[in-house]
Parts: sequence; structure tokens; C-alpha cells
Amino acid sequence: MTKTLTIRRPDDWHLHFRDGDTMRAVVPHTARQFARAIVMPNLSPPVTTSALAAAYRERIVDAVPEGVEFTPLMTAYLTDESNADDFAAGFADGVLTAAKLYPAGATTNSAHGVTDVANISGVLERMAEIGMPLCVHGEVTHAAIDIFDREAVFIERVLQPLVARLPELKVIFEHITTRQAVEFVDASGANIAATITPQHLHINRNDILVGGIRPHMYCLPVAKREEHRLALREAATGGSAKYFLGTDSAPHHRHDKESDCGCAGIFNAPYALESYVSVFDEEGALDRFEAFASENGPRFYSLPLNEGTVTLEKVAQEVPASVAGGAAEIVPFHAGETLSWRLAS
Ligand code: DOR
Ligand code: ZN
Repeated sequence: MTKTLTIRRPDDWHLHFRDGDTMRAVVPHTARQFARAIVMPNLSPPVTTSALAAAYRERIVDAVPEGVEFTPLMTAYLTDESNADDFAAGFADGVLTAAKLYPAGATTNSAHGVTDVANISGVLERMAEIGMPLCVHGEVTHAAIDIFDREAVFIERVLQPLVARLPELKVIFEHITTRQAVEFVDASGANIAATITPQHLHINRNDILVGGIRPHMYCLPVAKREEHRLALREAATGGSAKYFLGTDSAPHHRHDKESDCGCAGIFNAPYALESYVSVFDEEGALDRFEAFASENGPRFYSLPLNEGTVTLEKVAQEVPASVAGGAAEIVPFHAGETLSWRLAS
């Protein structure tokens, strides 16, 4: 008999939809798998105000296929000039679910990000007061810091002092990639949580660099050594309520990845649940998948759990070499591989 797993409908607590044709091509993948998703604001130009977030939300909703129930949860991009009143009003109205901190220059379209956390202390104080969560891209950007150390250094130099100064602030340390991040989250209070991507549970840095350079395995924060991947697998599957699903699905067209300056980002939306569940299966932790995928996130964000269920079945499926991406194709995570699970339609 086919092994199956039925869980409450899950959510994706970190993802990139882009805009325009690319957005219209990728939204259906996420809407098929998830009930809600926290949508990243790093468009060009970025989504920096609640009005821009409301308009972007409309464009996303228009791209959801007829008959599919999917709710985008919007974030505003923090800049040195962010306005606390606008963020608070957007949060009160339900337009904004969280604000996003990109250290300036950390990743795709982060040039307008925050140059020094001191510049947004007023906004962060207000967020702590009203219970508005802060999503954090946790990497320092100084040229002198090795790219493989940027997350660990961010914890010491930025996150630890921030959490000490604003102990009430709800912080999501996003797409964590290191043992140090797991140790920090484990040691912190209940208002500090983390998302973990499927790629960081599957790949280490050898997968990017051994036997030829693999641009489709490149994302930021970059995958680290094997010891870190193992720490992340333990964190995700270990049953702590501080860890939840956040794909960081980040579509870039094939030619933008396969370039002499290739973009960072892995497009994992089409097979995200299958990718995650195979990890839980390998770790003997299928009974903990529902909490990671469908419970810990909404509880942290103080949002209701979803109604309804999805069923995954242990049936092999081939992942295509590419999928439609609007103006050009996109190579999905696991392209050309056989996954051992599939989402029952
Ligand atoms: O790899 C990444 N891609 N990391 C990010 O933080 C941003 C994302 C993107 O927008 O492409
Ligand atoms: Zn991201």
C-alpha cells in the first residue's frame, strides 16, 4: 500500500513572487501547495510602504488561479527612512503582516536596505510595542567578512544586541544556514524563531562547487559545510516550535542564473512540500512534519491555523528540467531528480 501523510494545510513563511509576467507564472505553484505565504518586498523598486504593499497584494491576488484559495501576507521593506506610523497603520489594517530587514547590499534588490540598525530604532521600538514581527535577512555585508561567515558574524554584531535592546520584539531569523544560528535561536526566548528552506536541508557547499559550478544551487545565505546542514536538519525535525517552513523560493530566469554574474536564489516553489517531507522521512520524523509546516508558523505570528488538509503520498515523481517563468524559463530546485514523495492532487 502507498504510504501517505495527511496534514493540516501548510503555509510558506518566506517567499519571493516578483512582479509582472514572472509573478503570474510562479504564483500558481505556491497557491497549489500553501494556504498563505509571507511575501518578500524586494521588488525593484522595493515595497517600502503600506500603500505599495496593498497594491502589490492586489496584483498577487489577481494571479491566483480561479477556484484556488490562497492568501498573500504582505511585508514592508525597511529603509533608513521607514515611517513608524505608516507601518503601524498597515499592521492595524491587516495590510502588513511583518516588516523585513535587509542589511543594505546583502542580496537581490537590497541596495535600499538598512545601512545601520540604529537608523530604524524608532520603527523597531514601535513594532515591539504593537507586536508586529520583524523578518530578518541575517548577514553582515562588510567586504572584509568572508561570505561563509556572514551569518555567524551577524548574530554577534547585530542580532544579539538588537534582541537584548528590544526583548519584546518578535523576530524571525530567516532562512538560517548555520549551527551558530540554531544555537542562537535555541538559547533565545519564545519571541525568537527561524525559518528553514528546503535547499539548506538538502545541500551543502560542495553541491555548489564540486565537479563544476552549479548556479542553480546558489542562493543567499549561501549553503555552508555539512556540519551546518546536519544542525539544520536536527532543528527542523527535532520538534521545537521555534522552527517553521519558509521556502525562500526565489525565481530567476535561467539566463540570469547561468551568467558571468549569476543571481542568488533557488526556485523551489513547485515541489516545496515534497522536498521538505523527504527530509522528515529520511530523519524518521514524519510525525513532526505537520507542526513544522502548518502549526509553528501561525502560532508564532499569532494567526489562526488553516482549516482543511493536504495529502502527500510516497510515490516517485520526476522533476522537470525547467518550468515556465513568464518571459523565460526557470530551473526549479531538484531539476532532473526523482523525488520520492508527491502532493496528491
Ligand atoms: O538567494 C536569495 N535570493 N536570497 C535572498 O535573500 C533574496 C533572494 C532573491 O530575491 O532572489
Ligand atoms: Zn528570501
